[in-house]
Amino acid sequence: MAFIITIDGPSGAGKGTVSAKLAHELGFALLDSGALYRLTGLAARLNQCNFSDSAALGEVARSLDVEFCSTEAGVTIYLSGQDVSQAIRTEQAGMDASAVAAVPVVREALLQRQRDFAKAPGVVADGRDMGSTVFPDAQLKVFLTASAEERARRRLAQLQDANTGESFDYDKILQDIEARDKQDSERSSSPLQAASDAVMLDSSDKSIAEVLADILSLYRSRC
Ligand code: DC
Repeated sequence: MAFIITIDGPSGAGKGTVSAKLAHELGFALLDSGALYRLTGLAARLNQCNFSDSAALGEVARSLDVEFCSTEAGVTIYLSGQDVSQAIRTEQAGMDASAVAAVPVVREALLQRQRDFAKAPGVVADGRDMGSTVFPDAQLKVFLTASAEERARRRLAQLQDANTGESFDYDKILQDIEARDKQDSERSSSPLQAASDAVMLDSSDKSIAEVLADILSLYRSRC
């Protein structure tokens, strides 16, 4: 049986880093569900899809040819055999992901693909609706938040480190974060929302190591 840990929350709360470290520490699989929405957005752009054509976006999501390869340096993500690990991390890719994620047929098309990650000994699932929709029976559900300002500061540092060639502005990033929060929370299909049985964790004043320690201690008390 797989032990399922869901880590949901808004962009920039630290879910990605914490989930990767947690999965590594426990020897669990890692589901980066945001990457699946980013890949769908990127594939839609590459196919010159009309973003208001739900049926076409659903077809793109259903036929995604994706491979996640874990190496010591991190995860390399391939779309139709091409390394798109950097291309899916741009601000534009984030906005495209948020747009396609609001389309119910896209969410439906990605549901089983996400559930297939749940294999023994366990999985750490990072996203927005992991605890509420994808894995409602997860043994441990965490909802990780941080203030929008702190998330914008972290995002700026992350973008500068990633060297994507774009130029960055803190105010613009804060605006994008607030717009994305609004879009993700207000959509009708699987909005960003803490599951009723999730443990709430605010990472604004905590280091990654402290958040990780909190989640590990919750895990130990439940397994
Ligand atoms: O976590 P992220 O920034 O990589 O996610 C990109 C977008 O995908 C985000 O704006 C919301 C969407 N998303 C979602 O709707 N449901 C998920 N489980 C994960 C991400």
